[in-house]
Amino acid sequence: MKKIGVFTSGGDSPGMNAAIRAVVRTCAFHNIETYGIYEGYNGLISNEIKLLKSTDVSNIIQRGGTILRSSRSKGFRTAEGRKKAFENIQKIGLDGIIAIGGDGTFTGANIFNKEYNIPFIGIPGTIDNDLFGTDNTIGYDTALNTIVEAVDKIRDTASSHNRIFLVEVMGRDAGFLALRSGISVGAEAILIPETHTYINELINKLTSENKHHKKSMIVIVAEGDNAGGANEVAEKIKQLCPNFDTRVTILGHIQRGGNPSAADRVLASHLGNAAVEALLDNKTNLMVGNINKKIVFTSFENAIKHHNKINGDLVHLADILAH
Ligand code: F6P
Repeated sequence: MKKIGVFTSGGDSPGMNAAIRAVVRTCAFHNIETYGIYEGYNGLISNEIKLLKSTDVSNIIQRGGTILRSSRSKGFRTAEGRKKAFENIQKIGLDGIIAIGGDGTFTGANIFNKEYNIPFIGIPGTIDNDLFGTDNTIGYDTALNTIVEAVDKIRDTASSHNRIFLVEVMGRDAGFLALRSGISVGAEAILIPETHTYINELINKLTSENKHHKKSMIVIVAEGDNAGGANEVAEKIKQLCPNFDTRVTILGHIQRGGNPSAADRVLASHLGNAAVEALLDNKTNLMVGNINKKIVFTSFENAIKHHNKINGDLVHLADILAH
């Protein structure tokens, strides 16, 4: 291994920069050149690839976003785009590639690897925490804390009135952010895609809380819940209970920004280092993760297919503590 490429792809997450830094510095330690590929798979296709020196990654460990920028590449979904990417990889002579991203990123890497056999290692970077093969993905802890800080503020105003606040958090297919943040803020109800939401049951719950003298309530809604986003849920509540005074807050992309937490910086540093070492060990087509404080590897296929599972005990806990 003389030259390794690194890119970030899909939704950015806080801590991606710390992972890039760890890759570049570990490569430097082994006298390997690192090439930064810009805008994810798009950069492979357009050949926006530049040598990264150790000093290029100074002063980035604390910054959210990604210095390599990101994209959800349409071009890479085509055979033609992937051919172009392969040609550019050959031109520079990259011996291996490290992809930092989520399920879309690893789906692309898996297909590409089968077609062109380029050594690929993935680092899980997404706020959604939905990948199988790691306890936490990079950015999840920071996003969680961002949500908690925001909802604590909402709670102040909510408890000054008799209102139900529906707070929508990210998670198209996954309820990890919603569940953990909901428990952290003491939400009265948490709606997640992994469990079916029945509006009648939700209303019964809120009505009974109301009878128990709760004047204000917080409902955390994952954007991908079957009942809809927070706006839709508020609408459905209003139709059945016009007396409830509801307000909606959609936290949106604020959840993806900000300085990474210490936990995310350490995780990213650890995984970035392990990804380079894995390529040196001739590993390929694997995602590096951290389970019970140990580095583990999972095939791209399994990381995507098995989807991290919601902890049923936490769902039960949230229910008990809400009363
Ligand atoms: O993939 C992470 C994620 O944050 C999802 O939770 C969310 O649905 C999506 O990205 C939003 O992506 P975009 O910024 O492309 O709209």
